[in-house]
Amino acid sequence: MASELRFDQKVAVITGAGNGLGRSHARLLGQRGASVVVNDPGGDAFGDGGSSEVADRVVEEIKDGGGDAVASYDSVEVGEKIIECALDTFGRVDVVVNNAGIVRDQSFAKMTDEDWNRIQAIHLRGCFKVTRAAWPHMRDQEYGRIVNTSSAAGIYGNFGQANYSAAKLGVFGMARTLAIEGRRRNILVNAIAPVAASRLTEKVLPAELVAALDPKDVSALIAFLCHESCEESGALFEVGGGFFAKLRWERAAGKTFRIGRRISPEAVREAWPSITSFEETTHPVDIVAAMAPIIANVNYGTDKGGNEPIDLARISHEIP
Ligand SMILES: NC(=O)c1ccc[n+]([C@@H]2O[C@H](COP(=O)([O-])OP(=O)(O)OC[C@H]3O[C@@H](n4cnc5c(N)ncnc54)[C@H](O)[C@@H]3O)[C@@H](O)[C@H]2O)c1
Repeated sequence: MASELRFDQKVAVITGAGNGLGRSHARLLGQRGASVVVNDPGGDAFGDGGSSEVADRVVEEIKDGGGDAVASYDSVEVGEKIIECALDTFGRVDVVVNNAGIVRDQSFAKMTDEDWNRIQAIHLRGCFKVTRAAWPHMRDQEYGRIVNTSSAAGIYGNFGQANYSAAKLGVFGMARTLAIEGRRRNILVNAIAPVAASRLTEKVLPAELVAALDPKDVSALIAFLCHESCEESGALFEVGGGFFAKLRWERAAGKTFRIGRRISPEAVREAWPSITSFEETTHPVDIVAAMAPIIANVNYGTDKGGNEPIDLARISHEIP
């Protein structure tokens, strides 16, 4: 039997840990020795109301199992208070799982500013606020593990969830960039798109499916991604109902028109089969790889004009 993944001496902040997935993550990390900040303002699935009860209950559950935990009732919109709670209580922060979430589903024609803004404030800005507050501490200690909770709705789209889809793909984009910025300080950042039984899914999925979607499956992936032995960063995983898989971008071989030639809409129409065909594909992993065919084409053009070719390395820049 391989050695157990332990989190002794590690401090984990789990947002939205009073219910569903967050509760399951918090309990697992607590069982495995982490000191856990159980963050949850305890509102309903739409983000209305609030109560300290759900966070308190999960803290009790962790303590009953012999673990250590503290409740934080602040909204992720004031993420700095949640991180302050971790520092005041446990003196450090090693793991952040951005899990808090609500839904405000509405067909796009009827979507109000409020429906849009609440979702961005909690899912996207909340993720930013909590993570930014933790970031300098992780940089200083040269250690951090962060997981952002994305969604299939963001990856594939889902009727009535334009607000939620936008935010959920946003947290994946944030994870990609933070993975790049954090790498040298040993801060690894990933994203998951879970499917699990919770009050968010019990009303929209068939009961027999919900019954089979144990949040503990998702927590197993969270625990691995948040463990010091895991080296994965910048990745997105679909997970749920026993299924675990990494996802990546795939790009068609595409069509290159030589630089300098006028490209008409008709030429685009004609090239449509090559632009859209996935018979031959590439899987760019970063901006440099993504820019490669463009730079090659520009360099081909400059070759002809006798100019210096552009160096691909210059595309990726670093700001201190
Ligand atoms: N359950 C699924 O199948 C599924 C699918 C895709 C994505 N997700 C995402 O997973 C995460 C967890 O969802 P869940 O299904 O467990 O739902 P849930 O409603 O059971 O849990 C979400 C928790 O977030 C808390 N929360 C809401 N607003 C908050 C705020 N401002 N600050 C801190 N906490 C807040 C809620 O009180 C709740 O306890 C969410 O981000 C959700 O969008 C879930």
